[in-house]
Amino acid sequence: MTNKQSIGIFDSGVGGTTILKEILSILPHENILYYGDSKNSPYGQKNTQEIKDLCYKILDFFMEKNCKVVVIACNTATAAALESLKKRYPIPIIGVINAGVKEALKLTKNKNIAILATPFTVSSRAYIKELTKFSTNILISQEGCPEFSTMIEIGWEKFKNREELLKQHISKLSKEADTLILGCTHYPLIRKDIEKQFSGNIVDPAVETALELFNLLKFNNNLNNSDSSGDLNFFISGDKNSFKIIAEKFLGLKINNIYSI
Ligand code: DGL
Repeated sequence: MTNKQSIGIFDSGVGGTTILKEILSILPHENILYYGDSKNSPYGQKNTQEIKDLCYKILDFFMEKNCKVVVIACNTATAAALESLKKRYPIPIIGVINAGVKEALKLTKNKNIAILATPFTVSSRAYIKELTKFSTNILISQEGCPEFSTMIEIGWEKFKNREELLKQHISKLSKEADTLILGCTHYPLIRKDIEKQFSGNIVDPAVETALELFNLLKFNNNLNNSDSSGDLNFFISGDKNSFKIIAEKFLGLKINNIYSI
């Protein structure tokens, strides 16, 4: 292994850029391959086997590219496939659910935590399992939002009913919750609108995930020790242009290396 090998990051689309942004800021010298599987989105309305099979295809791609580590920048794929991927591939693989849970438990005062996620993540109970591993007597409410990731992929602002829909979903969560986990990596892209409806702590797993990645690479003595900025390449299975518009705006950078896959 050499530390110049790339980090592979993937999501069903543009949501993983919310994790990528923190990784770029904490690990600016790393070479990164981002895989956005927008042709197969939304993952949140598929079944476990379908999601696993899509993840295997992406991991095979990263293995071919000789990645040194993979970040599953998608809660749905983390819930469905993290354990299987860890068993199947010989490189370290990091998910996002543990990071969101750690951060939420640090912030909550009344141990009443709410989660907004995809229907798959909600029904997998992955957050409930992870939260109750670390803490007992915790109150958890969760709500699946089948529409959001697709609306965000298309362009959130294009939808007139967006605030109403957000309000409806948030109203299903416990009114006493003091902390809300954004349990889908697409949701930090609409954080401003979420903040209008929820006044407590809002948890985005991005910072904790990026720190976990940094610590892992450091521990394995596998940080890229180059002085120059790393290369950033995007591989998109669906519409490259709409990905580019949303990702450039959110990341605040020009995307030059973007390929269809
Ligand atoms: N961004 C993904 C997540 O964190 C999934 C969105 C989707 O494809 O449904 O769950």
